[in-house]
Amino acid sequence: MSLHIAARDGEIADRILLPGDPLRAKYIAETFLDDAVCYTDIRNILGYTGTYKGVRLSVQGTGMGIPSISIYATELMRDYGVKKLIRVGTCGAMRKDIKLRDVIIAQGATTDSSIIRNIFGGSINYAPLADFTLLRQAYEQSVKQGIPARVGNIVSVDRFYDDEIDNDKLTQYGIMAVEMETAGLYTLAAKYGAQALGLFTVSDHLLTGEACTPEERQTSFDDMIRIALETAIQ
Ligand code: HPA
Repeated sequence: MSLHIAARDGEIADRILLPGDPLRAKYIAETFLDDAVCYTDIRNILGYTGTYKGVRLSVQGTGMGIPSISIYATELMRDYGVKKLIRVGTCGAMRKDIKLRDVIIAQGATTDSSIIRNIFGGSINYAPLADFTLLRQAYEQSVKQGIPARVGNIVSVDRFYDDEIDNDKLTQYGIMAVEMETAGLYTLAAKYGAQALGLFTVSDHLLTGEACTPEERQTSFDDMIRIALETAIQ
């Protein structure tokens, strides 16, 4: 058992899907995995292990923001030896050519997080990057499933409500979408020598103010989960 995860040694698979919302972890386990067993419910942050197409795999909620995902990602890699971590989340689109329900793969995760800055200090601006093998496999899966992913730079912001951030400049420099966790996940995966990837569906659009209906959210979430699961078992 680690501080925030109640699993015993061996109860977590070496590959894991990481939704922010713990109830999404429950949904994924119950909908897509066989023989899923819940291994933790500390703080209602649920985690399950089961199998997908015969391969042992876990799914665990992370909560919102880099501070929260950092707790779970650290304990999963350091204390349970998890080697392949795929974040599955939603994001807000920041460019006209990115549409609601698009699937996004974060090749890089720009951030305003002081956590990343404080690791390196001085004048270093670290570039948190996806694992290339996972990225290639996920992209190929997205093409195979008829929903080719958009691949590029996203921004992992510290504040969901942020009146000061310059979204126009981020867009001008190619940022496709905004979410709140991936820069932390990529940085920690590098530290622990694990593979990480961030996969998203666009739930809302910052330029147009559009948002998915609950039904659209569910369908596109399921599409993304299938891409993530097929990638995770390779
Ligand atoms: N901002 C930050 N995180 C998000 C958003 C957003 O607009 N949409 C989905 N995750």
